[in-house]
Amino acid sequence: MQKLTITRPDDWHLHLRDGAALKAVLPYTVRQFARAIIMPNLKPPIRSVADAAAYRDRILAAIPEGQQFEPLMTLYLTDNTSPDDILRAKESQFIKAVKYYPAGATTNSDSGVTDIQKGDRVFEAMQQVDMPLLLHGEVTDNDVDTFDREKVFIERHLIPLKQRFPNLRVVLEHITTSDAVQYVLSANTIAATITPQHLLFNRNALFKGGLCPHFYCLPILKREEHRQALLQAAISGNPKFFLGTDSAPHTRTSKESSCGCAGCFSALHALELYAEAFESVKALDKLEAFASFYGPDFYQLPRNTERITLSKTTWRIPDEVPFMESGLVPLGAGQEMTWQMV
Ligand code: NCD
Ligand code: ZN
Repeated sequence: MQKLTITRPDDWHLHLRDGAALKAVLPYTVRQFARAIIMPNLKPPIRSVADAAAYRDRILAAIPEGQQFEPLMTLYLTDNTSPDDILRAKESQFIKAVKYYPAGATTNSDSGVTDIQKGDRVFEAMQQVDMPLLLHGEVTDNDVDTFDREKVFIERHLIPLKQRFPNLRVVLEHITTSDAVQYVLSANTIAATITPQHLLFNRNALFKGGLCPHFYCLPILKREEHRQALLQAAISGNPKFFLGTDSAPHTRTSKESSCGCAGCFSALHALELYAEAFESVKALDKLEAFASFYGPDFYQLPRNTERITLSKTTWRIPDEVPFMESGLVPLGAGQEMTWQMV
């Protein structure tokens, strides 16, 4: 196959940041995707409808001239979020989901939820107005091994949560384990996003020839058997699994540091990365539904009608793209790719 034409996809999990960083990264996403679910972990986070409206305006203002893009906004759940905040979010129409970060789990999550049970009144309201809950599904307990934090989150928090709120629509974000795949398959009203890094790399990438901070994201890359399980889920044609890049830009200096930030930047070449992953298991024919159909179906939004084309071309992922004061290293920098969006 030399060309692959598919319905224009959407990114169901994206970090755009703000200010100059937003202006630098947004054009990459706009080029590939029609819409994206925008993560609210700014400093300070997006906690109210007013915060989300203002952030949405800043995103709209940063879209390059003449291009189309729809930011789908989210609210950041804190210990102080009220059921009323949820009703107002629902009424806004532009807020499509609420994001749960366990306090301290990842970049800018200090205001996250300290105890998931404290959110029950809010989850009740979300269930009632059918507002999806997006989960960063990792425990933060220091006594739980970093590589087990997703599995333990599912056992300790997600299973009980779904028992308390069986009709709450949940997206387990950026899943990384076969445990997550199994759980999502077994439960109702739950879907999952899968990132390009978790489809293409296992945890060896973090240590190949030395410590490689540009492969460090959260949840952290796992063993090969987990990567295989994710790949099988992504190509399965099951609508519970869809595309969410978790593209999360950090400057080179904040990644290459004695305490480097978590996050992989993939907005530059997200579709190409997914195409490589799907082709590696001869499943390119399954890419369109994963990238362009199952996400809008879950969010009860229309599928896009425009189409985009990838062509078979060899090119090298650049070592860096311009970003703030120290540049931005794309996922897989320097590696050869065989698909390119035209
Ligand atoms: C994200 C970021 O940098 O905002 N980092 C990451 O490793 N994925 C936060 C997140 O989604 O966990
Ligand atoms: Zn994320």
